[in-house]
Amino acid sequence: MVLTENKREMICENLSRSETGELCFAGRPLTPLAEKYGTPCYFYDEQRIRERCRTYLSAVRAAFGERGRVLYASKAASFKRLYEIMREEGMGTDVVSCGEIYTAKRAGFPLEKAYFHSNNKTDADIEYAMENGVGYFVVDNVEELYAIDRLARERKIVQRVLLRLTPGIDPHTYAAVATGKVDSKFGSAIETGQAEDITKIALSLENIQLRGFHCHVGSQVFDSDVYIRASQVMLDFVAHISKTCGYLAEELDIGGGYGVRYTADQPEIDIAANIAQVGEFMHSHAKKLGITLPEIAFEPGRSIVADAGLTVYTVGTVKNIPGYKRYVSVDGGMTDNPRYALYGSPYTIVPVAGEVPDGSPLCTVAGRCCESGDLLQENVPLPESMGRGDLLACLTTGAYHYSMASNYNRVPRLPVVMLDGERDYLAVRRETPEDVAGLDV
Ligand code: LLP
Repeated sequence: MVLTENKREMICENLSRSETGELCFAGRPLTPLAEKYGTPCYFYDEQRIRERCRTYLSAVRAAFGERGRVLYASKAASFKRLYEIMREEGMGTDVVSCGEIYTAKRAGFPLEKAYFHSNNKTDADIEYAMENGVGYFVVDNVEELYAIDRLARERKIVQRVLLRLTPGIDPHTYAAVATGKVDSKFGSAIETGQAEDITKIALSLENIQLRGFHCHVGSQVFDSDVYIRASQVMLDFVAHISKTCGYLAEELDIGGGYGVRYTADQPEIDIAANIAQVGEFMHSHAKKLGITLPEIAFEPGRSIVADAGLTVYTVGTVKNIPGYKRYVSVDGGMTDNPRYALYGSPYTIVPVAGEVPDGSPLCTVAGRCCESGDLLQENVPLPESMGRGDLLACLTTGAYHYSMASNYNRVPRLPVVMLDGERDYLAVRRETPEDVAGLDV
């Protein structure tokens, strides 16, 4: 294998082209894999996932000592094999639904290391999480806090909780994923005094053990300063509560959000260096405030799995509308990747067989659903010769693809195939039409 220099497509180290020009992922040529598993198909590079976990764990431990935690935000991609990998790597996890809790449990993930999020946990959710011994609840609001206290009392347990606060910080990302601003459906705002109110209530409830605070400013964040500013606001709040309530938080969870590269013009974040910087700031700010630094947790999702995944499609129709556009339709689309339709998210889409010659036409890569908005990307240079049966790879699809997939048009969902050195194996099998219709009574 030789790694050719092609800046547009080689956006992660696990991509290369063979001597014949074929696209390889995790060191494996993709054509035989597509033949073996069929298309469309998600492929994951297991070693890349493990490497990312280790990068986070070692950075967090270097910055905050053995008590620093890394929780994989499993909304980014949730299936049994991933929780097994997280368990093996010593990660914690963030879960947001009974479905994620159940999947983690089936993987033998130690649920005492799970943090239960969501801005609207029903009583049934809370009971399910308690029944399964989920270690921490990240409480969004006062009603939920009272419900957790009531249900904990019924079970005669004391539930450990963190309170989700909004630090009032704009992470400069797309609106759908900016969550740390005061005007947010998530958390209690520090600025409005609601954060202090909920803290006082939490401290007064008998079946609640307040462990500390949580914030998550947003997702796909490139500005590392955002985490410093969030840390500052959160530590100031910890110090304020210590003074006014005599309560010193034991834990501070700073959320997830580090951005990843979908295209060559996006920067690559040095996670270790960033966390070191945040750590340095936190230690010195805590010292300045005269408080002991709480245990610190990070909650990355996208940056653990995004570039460990890609999707392979087969081209069907190529439709040239002279003077307008050239549509290249593939056998997947918004059902396996809704992110372009939802957020206009950029992607790198390349032919599997070989590099794109200079001067190739710009194409609109379209999905197979009955909806004009079902596009994967526009202005993608693809070879003039591209046609029925050719393979295309959409890069960086490991996060928020499988987990956001749908059955729109009753399209069966894709399988997930793991690549690990010479080994390849199914982590999730392909859905069948019978699976899709299987719940109909
Ligand atoms: N912690 C909390 C409380 C979160 O809400 C999230 C993401 C994370 C951690 C992980 O953030 P990450 O490291 O993955 O950026 N569907 C959108 C992303 C939604 C993110 C939701 N929360 C997308 O496809 O871009």
